[in-house]
Amino acid sequence: MNSPTRSELPAKSGKLRELIFRGQDIYAGVAADPTKVDMQGWGSDHGIFAYCIERLQPKLIIEVGSWKGRSAINMARAMQDFGMDGEILCIDTWLGSPEHWLAEGAVEAWRASLGIVHGYPTLYTHS
Ligand SMILES: C[S@@+](CC[C@H](N)C(=O)[O-])C[C@H]1O[C@@H](n2cnc3c(N)ncnc32)[C@H](O)[C@@H]1O
Repeated sequence: MNSPTRSELPAKSGKLRELIFRGQDIYAGVAADPTKVDMQGWGSDHGIFAYCIERLQPKLIIEVGSWKGRSAINMARAMQDFGMDGEILCIDTWLGSPEHWLAEGAVEAWRASLGIVHGYPTLYTHS
């Protein structure tokens, strides 16, 4: 199967959620607690996001390694600011990277962010 060309992507991106989740509302039952929002991220506020979005005008952004979504939210805001109608697909294991597991000293909070319960990260279920 050939990869879609850039000109084919817009038509496909509108159906992405349907294609992946087959009509299931993945947000149903998610009880977000605004008092627990944690917007920690890495370089998530850098101007490179808006710069690229304005120039490339993407209909679909696929972010591999979303962590807590701070970059994704900023990319979404940039798309809104530019009046663009697009989608962002966030991909992550939500199991963390080696640096989260091996963190020591000043970056010990990275490990704590994983919310390990019974040996397994609970990051995905955090509000
Ligand atoms: C440095 S964080 C990403 C920071 C994020 N983009 C932000 O806005 O702050 C790296 C992320 O990559 C994820 N990750 C590591 N290996 C992965 C893999 N093989 N597939 C998907 N995600 C992965 C980790 O779970 C972690 O959330």
